[in-house]
Amino acid sequence: MAAPANDAEEISEAEEEEHKLPPHPTTPQQKSRKDYAPPPYLIANVDLDFDLREEACTVTSRLTVTPNYGQLPAGAAPPPLVLDGRKDVKLVSVAVAGRKLEAGEYQLTDKTLTLSGLPEGEFGVEVVTELKPQDNTLLEGLYKSSGNYSTQCEAEGFRGITYFLDRPDVMAKYTTRIEADAAAYPVLLGNGNLKETGQADGGRHYAVWVDPYPKPCYLFALVAGKLAMKERHFTTCSGRDVTLRIFVQERNLGKADQALESLIHAMKWDEDTYGLEYDLDLFNIVAVDDFNMGAMENKSLNIFNSSRVLASPATATDLDYSRLEGVVGHEYFHNWTGNRVTCRDWFQLTLKEGLTRYRDQEFTSDMNSRAVKRIEDVMLLRASQFTEDGGPMAHPVRPDSYIKMDNFYTLTVYNKGAEVVRLYETLLGKAGFRKGMDLYFQRHDGQAVTCDDFRAAMADANGVNLDSLGVWYGQAGTPHLHVRTAYDGISQTYTLTCRQRTPPTPGQPDKRPVLIPIRLGLLGPDGSDLPLRLRHKDGSVEDLGTTGVLRFETAEASFTFVEVGPAEPVPSLLRGFSAPVKLEVEGQTDEHLYFLLAHDSDPFNRWESGQRLARKLLMRMYHAAAAAAPAANSADGGHEAAAANGLQGDELRARVELACAAFGGVPDSLVEAYRAVVTDPALDGSFKAMAMSLPTLNELMEGVEGGADPPLLHACRLALSRALAGVLRPELQAAVKDNSDPPEQPYRYAADACARRALKNRALALLSTLEDPAITAELLRRFREATNMTDEIAALGCLVELSGPEREAALTAFYDKFTHDPLVLLKWLGLQAGSNAPGNLERVRALTSHPAFNISNPNNCYALLLGFSHSPAHFHAADGSGYAFLADAVLKVDGINHQVAARLVAPFSSWRRYDPPRQALMKAQLQRILEAPRLSENVFEIASKSLKAA
Ligand code: TRP
Ligand code: ZN
Repeated sequence: MAAPANDAEEISEAEEEEHKLPPHPTTPQQKSRKDYAPPPYLIANVDLDFDLREEACTVTSRLTVTPNYGQLPAGAAPPPLVLDGRKDVKLVSVAVAGRKLEAGEYQLTDKTLTLSGLPEGEFGVEVVTELKPQDNTLLEGLYKSSGNYSTQCEAEGFRGITYFLDRPDVMAKYTTRIEADAAAYPVLLGNGNLKETGQADGGRHYAVWVDPYPKPCYLFALVAGKLAMKERHFTTCSGRDVTLRIFVQERNLGKADQALESLIHAMKWDEDTYGLEYDLDLFNIVAVDDFNMGAMENKSLNIFNSSRVLASPATATDLDYSRLEGVVGHEYFHNWTGNRVTCRDWFQLTLKEGLTRYRDQEFTSDMNSRAVKRIEDVMLLRASQFTEDGGPMAHPVRPDSYIKMDNFYTLTVYNKGAEVVRLYETLLGKAGFRKGMDLYFQRHDGQAVTCDDFRAAMADANGVNLDSLGVWYGQAGTPHLHVRTAYDGISQTYTLTCRQRTPPTPGQPDKRPVLIPIRLGLLGPDGSDLPLRLRHKDGSVEDLGTTGVLRFETAEASFTFVEVGPAEPVPSLLRGFSAPVKLEVEGQTDEHLYFLLAHDSDPFNRWESGQRLARKLLMRMYHAAAAAAPAANSADGGHEAAAANGLQGDELRARVELACAAFGGVPDSLVEAYRAVVTDPALDGSFKAMAMSLPTLNELMEGVEGGADPPLLHACRLALSRALAGVLRPELQAAVKDNSDPPEQPYRYAADACARRALKNRALALLSTLEDPAITAELLRRFREATNMTDEIAALGCLVELSGPEREAALTAFYDKFTHDPLVLLKWLGLQAGSNAPGNLERVRALTSHPAFNISNPNNCYALLLGFSHSPAHFHAADGSGYAFLADAVLKVDGINHQVAARLVAPFSSWRRYDPPRQALMKAQLQRILEAPRLSENVFEIASKSLKAA
């Protein structure tokens, strides 16, 4: 049977032709998944020698090259060997089969070194290059950070070190010799096992590392520097002792324990859950301040952004702790899903990232509250991945083309990819999923494979056909699932009629149905789950227990349940968010939602019902406020959202409150539902905190037809918070009181302690919107008396949104307290960046020249510049000043670091979600970015594709 996935692929291929990009001075080349061909040569062994010196570093690379071109036609010469490079990598010499080549015997361009006239069979190549890591601001390849050397090779950074076949299907065994000044760089780390160390002339020393496992070059790493270390040990399930080390700057040694603790949890979890054991005697983690992403899974030498791996109660929040655990787990889990089994080509990135993200999500679920973790993951997916999937950069979890691979480390590849992996688990069950994983490793250990190989292992291990899951890999866009329900009181049957549609995305106008597993329950009149008895076409009845999974894979289908009883049940659909879709239940009333919020046995859907109620009300508020005073200049009575354009602060607030009052304000039933949640003693505090959080602004924006006015939407969200806090003040204050710990109680990162803080701080945040002087004073007191960062930043976060002297007092006190801790100052920058306080753009502008801000450091750019884009009031200011500010920043950062600059363009990509005047302003900035001279390929790709979809 032909895999349906193929049809989906044909569509995108046909469309690709029309999908041409505007011109760029250096005409970047798109790479296409369809063009994959195995390399003509492989590399069996790599012997690297790094001579690290202050002026320049010399890298000598000795390769054992083997032919992979098959039988040559009679008399034909071997094909050329084209090695990848980068223009800042100076070629010193190249030798083939022991003979140094003269200039003219090889071809060198900015990007490649081509060797021809090669011998048949295996031969050696020696490449000597010279690098200036101290000038490498891209942070790809070999660079210096805080005086130490480190590397980042994924995706295509190894070519920034030496000329090489820089592609993941070339897997080699590596030996690395590192030599450096012994006093300045006492620690020398590489992949694998430490084989030898020794002294060299001139106060220098060296180390030789041997990695016994073949790996693609993107997993290569080296670190040389002055670093302090902490060590622990882990005994694996087969009784081997593994030494675990974390290396940090001396001053951060007190923040290193949690990473080792989390690593041990992760190692144990992977053994218990998947039978996966660590495969070397040494595992190293290094914290680096200048790092483009969160962390990197280099074989046995994981390198982390210091903001992701360092934590102490006084400097890190509960959220930081839980992220740390997730990221440490993520990188560790890559040892099997990514390193032992890797990707054949970069289009397959989700093979390792979607799967490893799924694994880290499951790890975190098992360590903490499963329900809360699921809610958090779905919130992120909806707020950010759905936006990506509905915008001009929409791409399938397995993309069809790219200019710069770095631009495809996206929420789609990672988080939607993880949802796709979760579909297998939902369909096969935990045990079936495990069987599939076992077969995957049995078949592919040591190989570079594709997403199809993963699907085949899952299918074969379970003896089922999973071809229809293939469509999820090839098709972009968030599917819409529409369900109509019908109860027949006479036959006591209940029928769900499901329809699905995936909207067109750039390059993919026509979509196919996808396989949607619908996990569901039916609630009886007393709120308990009814037995699910599904009637099949042939008349047979299948018993699904009280939570079943329907397999919906056509454009439309009906499912009928029998013996549902004398009353119409209330459906609880897509329990646990069993597929990454947008669900609409026709005829779902507020009464249904209140009923589910009170009774659903599925905690995810309890939360979801509350979100739906809040979303409906917020949309009503928004439309009422937008319509309150039609814009004078919209001739056709036109675009209602534009009506409030330009209103700010108190005026905007008054507008929203008037409009809201006109339809009776917040209904009592909603207030009562929230009251029930806050006061329910049976509910976990973290769950309550989630249930008391309103849908994110990003998620709400998706729901506004014709484009949203972000300041107005934000004002509505704030007005609802204020209204709820006004009526529930006694309950919220009780929650604060009951969940406050005495100051002498030491901080613990544990589920129960986090739950108390989460509920308390959520209640405080709601109360803070009242802008009551007594509450504001209490916030300031709590800020001053906080004994951990979670409480401190929670209070500060509330104060920053308020105007008045408390705001400045708190910000100044915080800065004075943490002047010497750049990681904590990231929070300080971030809070100010995203603030909606009047006149805040000027403050953000001033911060760009504050000593706490360093534009060459990615974390600083993300906190302040990207952080600014989170301010609905100022980034989306009606006069376009916020957009101009970010575009200026993009251009400035692009001169330093292309990957970071490209990430700063993302807020412009979603221009279509906003009202027409804002759309025009955002597109104008994209145009301006594109017209800038010497634009990087990274920024070019995002900006041009964003505009192209106009
Ligand atoms: N593979 C890394 C991870 O998922 C991602 C990563 C780290 C990365 N650094 C990078 C990707 C630099 C591109 C460029 O954990
Ligand atoms: Zn990863």
